[in-house]
Amino acid sequence: MLLDSQFWLKVFSGTALQVTARKPRLYLHHLIILVTLKYQIRDLSKRHLNSMLWLKALHIISFVCWFAGLFYLPRLFVYHSLAEDSISRERFETMERKLYQGIMTPSMIATLVFGIWMLSIAWPAYKQSGWLHAKLLLVILLIGYHHMCKAYMRQFTQKRNIKSHIFYRWFNEVPVLLLIVIVILAVVKPF
Ligand code: HEM
Repeated sequence: MLLDSQFWLKVFSGTALQVTARKPRLYLHHLIILVTLKYQIRDLSKRHLNSMLWLKALHIISFVCWFAGLFYLPRLFVYHSLAEDSISRERFETMERKLYQGIMTPSMIATLVFGIWMLSIAWPAYKQSGWLHAKLLLVILLIGYHHMCKAYMRQFTQKRNIKSHIFYRWFNEVPVLLLIVIVILAVVKPF
């Protein structure tokens, strides 16, 4: 785990050593500060670790809800494109709009907020992580997919859909692939 007391101690002691190297007479002074800091930092890092775990839990809950919509909305498009009577079409339009506006967009925002919040807590450590850069790139693609869903939804509402149910079946597979790769990157952290 990146956020242990060693990590924070390294950050503070690194700064203290730089100053000590320039002004050796401050050595004892810095030693006393560092010993005091070691205990304060242990407390601080425990609090940080605790808030990180809460943020991670909220992050996971949010992206699970987001993906529920990312999987279900294109499935509704499959059946919507096959619907022949106007009553079914109107019902699909309502279901799609409520799913997109009521669940998908708020959960996407929550995922981003909690993710960025975690980054802000330990940015010096995260900015060097290759897995995170790759993950963020895929998250950008996922946000693009989210907006493509909105565009297709609008085409259905305006009776302009020309895509077949086969297209939507394939379109439905994209978030599956993104989910697999993003979760492996975030959990295994291979590089
Ligand atoms: C802007 C968007 C996102 C940001 C900034 C972000 C950032 C983060 C950060 C900083 C962590 C903590 C990593 C650690 O130190 O263990 C994390 C954890 C995680 N994220 Fe994200 N994330 C984002 C989107 C997503 C999405 C869309 C998914 C799912 C598809 C996801 C899946 C996960 C998982 C499974 C973990 C838990 C990793 C573990 O504890 O082992 N994240 N995320």
